[in-house]
Amino acid sequence: MSNRTFTMIKPDAVKAGNIGNILQMITDNGFKIIALKYLQITKAQAEKFYEVHAERPFYADLTQFMSSGPIVAAILEKDNAVADFRKLIGATNPAQAEEGTIRKKYATSVGENAVHGSDSDENAAIEGNFYFSVLERF
Ligand code: CMP
Repeated sequence: MSNRTFTMIKPDAVKAGNIGNILQMITDNGFKIIALKYLQITKAQAEKFYEVHAERPFYADLTQFMSSGPIVAAILEKDNAVADFRKLIGATNPAQAEEGTIRKKYATSVGENAVHGSDSDENAAIEGNFYFSVLERF
């Protein structure tokens, strides 16, 4: 069990003005922010980040969307971080997300679902390394 996960606040939630609300939910639920960045990625960078989904039918839409506007990327720390964070964000499809989860509150569709959360310790490390150097972690 690792104590770190990786998240992005996606372009839909940034555009809707929910950066502050989502970071507040994250810290209220016991996650410590280890690294934080506000940036816009290119289509090529989104394709690299999501390359595990390259064969999926939604890959083109997903990478277009993720490069369509600024995002917030962060590394978070807490005991059981990956599983606890996935619980806090709720189901990928907001229609199936539980009450009180970030996606229930702020996501609008399976594609525009407000936040990303790593699905394993291994991917949390890979994804955090994609955005942050060791000098950017505190
Ligand atoms: P995320 O956790 O960022 O990881 C992969 C993303 O693909 C997922 O969130 C969804 O936002 C996105 N996606 C778009 N369409 C679909 C779909 N039909 N099924 C699953 N994920 C999808």
